[in-house]
Amino acid sequence: MNFKDKTVWITGASSGIGSALAIEFAKIGAVIILSSRNTKKLEIVKLECEKLGATCIVQILDLENQDNFSKITEEIIAKYHTIEVLINNGGITQRSLVKETPLEIDRKIMEINFFGNIALTKAVLPFMIKQQSGSIVTISSVVGKFGVPKRSAYSASKHALHGFYETLRAEHKADNINVTIVIPGYVKTNISYNAMLKDGSKNNKLDDGQAGGVSAEYCAKKIIKGISNNKKEVLIGGKELIMVHLRRFLPFIYYRIIDKVKTT
Ligand SMILES: NC(=O)c1ccc[n+]([C@@H]2O[C@H](COP(=O)([O-])OP(=O)(O)OC[C@H]3O[C@@H](n4cnc5c(N)ncnc54)[C@H](OP(=O)(O)O)[C@@H]3O)[C@@H](O)[C@H]2O)c1
Repeated sequence: MNFKDKTVWITGASSGIGSALAIEFAKIGAVIILSSRNTKKLEIVKLECEKLGATCIVQILDLENQDNFSKITEEIIAKYHTIEVLINNGGITQRSLVKETPLEIDRKIMEINFFGNIALTKAVLPFMIKQQSGSIVTISSVVGKFGVPKRSAYSASKHALHGFYETLRAEHKADNINVTIVIPGYVKTNISYNAMLKDGSKNNKLDDGQAGGVSAEYCAKKIIKGISNNKKEVLIGGKELIMVHLRRFLPFIYYRIIDKVKTT
């Protein structure tokens, strides 16, 4: 796929993988819509993209409040006529055990990572059906394939995305809509700083996993290559990815290892 002058909408574009995606798309001439809750941070990313010659707009969007998603989408379509690529990247993780996590925290994570994510897809879908083309991308995680301690709702929200987007792909293949599920392992971003603790406050720490992860830039390049090649799934990361393969092909070895894994 050639992304020159194609409209690409990225959520979670203020930071980490999302901002790296914006910059990589800017380099290849896409028209980029940057979304998250933080105008200041998005304006900085916009400036970076514009320095690379890209056309860019900032669209504030809170994944927890989905009421205005249809209106925002209509406004973007009125201005740019098409949305060729939607990247549902925005999300939040947690650092808390099942036994200590109040249900309201589980719901918040599901609201942002699952309902916010699919609500935007539902708002964009009718336009992609009408134009009979498009790519919808969702950023899952290796914990969308298996669970690890202290990530119960996060892992559940990512598992749920797989069910939703596998179905979407099957339902809209005939409309020429491609669905790519991205499965990162460790990527060096602020995700562990922003992770929610049991009381809803921020973790404010860089985990060893993220510290040793692949760069957001590397991740963004892999995602773009995956979209370009209409990949159904794109695995990105280091040696932690082996757990995805073990879980699938050698579950008895997977369970032996995962029982010893210490998650922070
Ligand atoms: N880094 C990793 O190791 C890793 C591994 C697997 C999967 N992932 C996934 O990759 C995606 C991007 O994460 P990242 O690593 O780049 O983390 P990050 O640096 O913390 O970025 C998260 C992004 O999500 C946005 N966001 C959070 N809550 C939001 C809300 N309520 N409404 C709108 N936007 C919201 C944030 O923007 P604002 O705060 O400005 O709203 C920010 O732009 C996430 O879906 C994450 O689960 C990351």
